[in-house]
Amino acid sequence: MSTEPFKNVIMLPQTNQLTGLYTIIRDQNTKRPDFIFYADRIIRLLVEEGLNHLPVQPRTVETSTNQKYEGVSFLGKICGVSIVRAGESMEQGLRECCRSVRIGKILIQRDEETAQPKLFFEKLPEDIAERYVFLLDPMLATGGSAAMATEVLIKRGVKPERIFFLNLICSKEGVDYYHSKFPGVKIVTGAVDPCLDENKYLVPGLGDFGDRYYCL
Ligand code: PRP
Ligand code: URA
Repeated sequence: MSTEPFKNVIMLPQTNQLTGLYTIIRDQNTKRPDFIFYADRIIRLLVEEGLNHLPVQPRTVETSTNQKYEGVSFLGKICGVSIVRAGESMEQGLRECCRSVRIGKILIQRDEETAQPKLFFEKLPEDIAERYVFLLDPMLATGGSAAMATEVLIKRGVKPERIFFLNLICSKEGVDYYHSKFPGVKIVTGAVDPCLDENKYLVPGLGDFGDRYYCL
């Protein structure tokens, strides 16, 4: 598979290790403790990959051998925004990489009959417009929930090019729909599934991520 099948889609390197992690979380026989453990490993990879794309500035330090090291430091502030409920599973992975990072929440639920998203609640950092935003939701199916969340961010003044949408699996049609509305937002993902089923679930997918992570 090409490592970048669509413009502004950043794919994790498709290594055997990554395929092994997806094999475990996609397996319907995987129990919740393993599902959480291996999903968390993928989440960590997504966060690290997202961080690779943030701008940096030169920074020179002196090492313990009294030599100069010409390195870099991040330019700008970041925050996370999770789409509740499943997106909250990605907060810990972000915190492990960015100590005391600010995190906002947007509660959007897909109607189980129609698959249409409904916005219930938003609580975001006051200065979000000045930050790079990691939007967190493991699943991009029709793209409706992510698009609704992104509209909230843009209304709050966040520039599309400062948003990175991190997810574990997206569908081709979800990516097309989402980028038809927000072509400038970068999607960071580990897998693009070919289609959706009649209930708008990803195929092959992994079922309901929120249920598998929190309930089953
Ligand atoms: C899931 C998932 C996304 C959405 C994706 O959430 O976490 O938010 O569906 O589907 P879409 O791209 O077709 O909008 P859901 O609404 O099922 O709630 P949950 O997080 O409580 O599981
Ligand atoms: N939400 C999920 O959790 N899984 C899907 O396949 C689609 C939406």
